[in-house]
Amino acid sequence: MKVDGRHYRSLWWDHDKDALQIIDQRWLPHDFRIQQVNTLQEFAEAIVEMRVRGAPLIGATAAYAMALAMRLDPSDAAMDQAWSFLNATRPTAINLRWALDRCRNRLRPLAAAERAAAALALAHEIADEDVEINRSIGAHGLELIKQIAAQKPAGEPVRLLTHCNAGWIATVDWGTATSPMYQAHDAGIPIHVWVDETRPRNQGALTSWELGSHGISHSYITDNAGGHLMQHGQVDLVITGTDRTTRRGDVCNKIGTYLKALAAKDNGVPFYVALPSPTIDWTVSDGVAEIPIEERSEREITHVQGKAGDGAIDVVQVTPDGTPGGNPAFDVTPNRLVTGLITERGICEATEDGLAGLFPDMAAAR
Ligand code: MRU
Repeated sequence: MKVDGRHYRSLWWDHDKDALQIIDQRWLPHDFRIQQVNTLQEFAEAIVEMRVRGAPLIGATAAYAMALAMRLDPSDAAMDQAWSFLNATRPTAINLRWALDRCRNRLRPLAAAERAAAALALAHEIADEDVEINRSIGAHGLELIKQIAAQKPAGEPVRLLTHCNAGWIATVDWGTATSPMYQAHDAGIPIHVWVDETRPRNQGALTSWELGSHGISHSYITDNAGGHLMQHGQVDLVITGTDRTTRRGDVCNKIGTYLKALAAKDNGVPFYVALPSPTIDWTVSDGVAEIPIEERSEREITHVQGKAGDGAIDVVQVTPDGTPGGNPAFDVTPNRLVTGLITERGICEATEDGLAGLFPDMAAAR
């Protein structure tokens, strides 16, 4: 997507510098800073500190990290060590393990001398595939938006609600939940997006930055406003992203997603999840019982970062000194609350049959 008129992906290989470049998302939406990642330690920090974030982007970053590891030492032992080191960075988004497994499976049969080049080629492949997957999710989601638009008086916007940032900077490009929004806007369909702020880290501000840069009408709302808006008929469709979806369609996503799904169910608002296939965990069925939920630092709750009047980016404390916090970063929405899953192969029910119907190859391989 474009930033100041120039097209960017959220990460890219600089051939002159022979190194990966990322957008350091800690400074967005106020500052657009690019960082070169040089060591395995820097890769791990980038994921843990959420310089890169969003399930698909975490996966693609890990693939480039594996490429670096193979450059330094292409042995089996180094590959296994890199796998464990990187896999421990964030526990919930399954794309991390998916990418690391894919790298290891591809590289293991190769001679050591071939591994560095093959690993870099595979990282490029994973990044390019992600772009295509998200483009397709957008095309299928666009049909959904078109159907809703067709039921409205001409010119009235389709009002969507989204939670967190499942946008282009959370993927390599396009985003998952935002891809249908970009494609609807580009097709001339009027839309308006309610953007949940998404405490504690306010990823909604990233979504607002993305949508605003693309000229898409949107409003930044508190996390608790969604239910009220739904009760008053102000939301036509909810689309969120996901960090891990089980084979029966339970959806793990940013904390607060579950409450949006409950409110949507109570108000008859369709609740869809944009789901790239690498985010399906075919080994897990019951998401509430089986998905590990990342617990992050309480400092993310007691302190907030923002831009001060003089333009400086600053962090301020919002709670009394010493206030204890609890910070589960994700929750699980049971499949019964999910109207449908928008995948790169089409839209399906959030059920085992629905997912296996679209992805028989993957369902059989588990
Ligand atoms: O903690 P984050 O910011 O990495 O969480 C991101 C989300 O929850 C997204 O909705 C999800 O990863 C899908 S991104 C296309």
